[in-house]
Amino acid sequence: MAIRKIARMGHPVLRGVAKPVPDPTAPEVQALVRDMIETMIDANGAGLAAPQIYEPWRIVVFQAPPERAPEEVDEEEAFDHTAPLTVLINPEIEFLTEETEKGWEGCLSVPGLRGSVPRVTALRYRGVTPKGERIERVARGFHARVVQHECDHLDGILYPQRMEDLTELIFESEARVWLAAHAPAKEQDNG
Ligand code: NI
Repeated sequence: MAIRKIARMGHPVLRGVAKPVPDPTAPEVQALVRDMIETMIDANGAGLAAPQIYEPWRIVVFQAPPERAPEEVDEEEAFDHTAPLTVLINPEIEFLTEETEKGWEGCLSVPGLRGSVPRVTALRYRGVTPKGERIERVARGFHARVVQHECDHLDGILYPQRMEDLTELIFESEARVWLAAHAPAKEQDNG
């Protein structure tokens, strides 16, 4: 296993269309997946796509922890908001709604920046695991967002290309200042 170097915006490997994996159970695929997971965890990312470590194959890894799920949804739907560490080979996405929602994203290939990106709020994805098993899941919220972000990498798309308003592309170090400036005015409490 090895922590790999992460490609940064501007490198052609991030702009290409990644190739389908002919045999998801092949030993070299297992080795690549292990490196992807190790690299993602080391970089503290929510997800990673193979092209980000200079490997132009249709493989993504991601996780959607329960703390990112909204509190107000019922138990059954809350399940769709979370995902354990997941490896998807040759993933496919089917949108379940036309509804989109903006949310802040970052990317290990676009270090230091954050952008507010509209994403479809519910989808179904399918793919194959490194054991050759098929996965099919419904994803909502952050889970749906991370899947769209990672699968975009397989088609050469980085999140700024999905943004509608580039005034919402900011440095991470300015996020606190930006949010303070854009927060709705708080009610005065003179009590
Ligand atoms: Ni990314």
